[in-house]
Amino acid sequence: MREVTPRRIIEMKGREKITMVTAYDYPSALLADRAGIDIIFVGDSLGMVVYGEENTLNVSMDQMVFHTRAVSRAVKRALVLADMPFGSYEIDTGEALRNALRLIRAGADAVKIEGGADHEKLVRKLVRMGIPVMGHTGLTPQRYLRLGGYRLMGETEEEIEEILRDAKSLERAGAFAVVLEFTLADVARLVTEEVSIPTIGIGSGPWVDGQVLVWHDLLGIYEEVPPFVKKYADIGGMIRLALENYREEVKNGAFPGKEHYWEFLDKEDFERKA
Ligand code: KIV
Ligand code: NA
Repeated sequence: MREVTPRRIIEMKGREKITMVTAYDYPSALLADRAGIDIIFVGDSLGMVVYGEENTLNVSMDQMVFHTRAVSRAVKRALVLADMPFGSYEIDTGEALRNALRLIRAGADAVKIEGGADHEKLVRKLVRMGIPVMGHTGLTPQRYLRLGGYRLMGETEEEIEEILRDAKSLERAGAFAVVLEFTLADVARLVTEEVSIPTIGIGSGPWVDGQVLVWHDLLGIYEEVPPFVKKYADIGGMIRLALENYREEVKNGAFPGKEHYWEFLDKEDFERKA
């Protein structure tokens, strides 16, 4: 059992901000856990940032299982959360439960689904089965085609109502938290006040119970990031510089240096043996 549990996350509401970051492999999960991040999240954003897809629609259960297993091996303290990918939970309840079970058996402590009101029954079933669930409303990237791309949510009365309805459904069904993605900050504040479970924002302002960012975005691995991201490092620049130095030193013979190889000090001895 890891230290950070869904119960602990719920208790943090109103007391302490919740920190969450995505991670998709062993080394990054190790670093995130050591940094004291509360929730390490295997997001289906891996389709884009790890596999180079245009959106998250092609992510498979197998991909989620493999990456969850790698992350899970690294994490001792944080709660490990895994996304249910597009098509893995919407079609059939039995299939959804089996897919959630695969993620739990790969080492996840909880699963996340997009939407709320449409999946109230499913969330209740998962929770009854013993699988903690996080919801996700506001901008839900799995609706990429319907939304016509990624955009700010909560600007119309209809959208505000939908977001609020999702959050309340999730609370009722027993979800332990909800992600609010790219909504107007005032809408996120309203939802945070209206539900008893923690809200975790991304691009939704400061009046939420926690924040989540994508690994590659916050570390500056790519130059282009969504407008709401703060880059805490320029890891992309550091990697490029290191690779350019390596290339240069191989080309000009500076690498490998004396300290990186072993030779017979006595050339005659070597020639005798050769
Ligand atoms: O997959 C993901 O990274 C997400 C976060 C943006 C919340 O769902
Ligand atoms: Na996601």
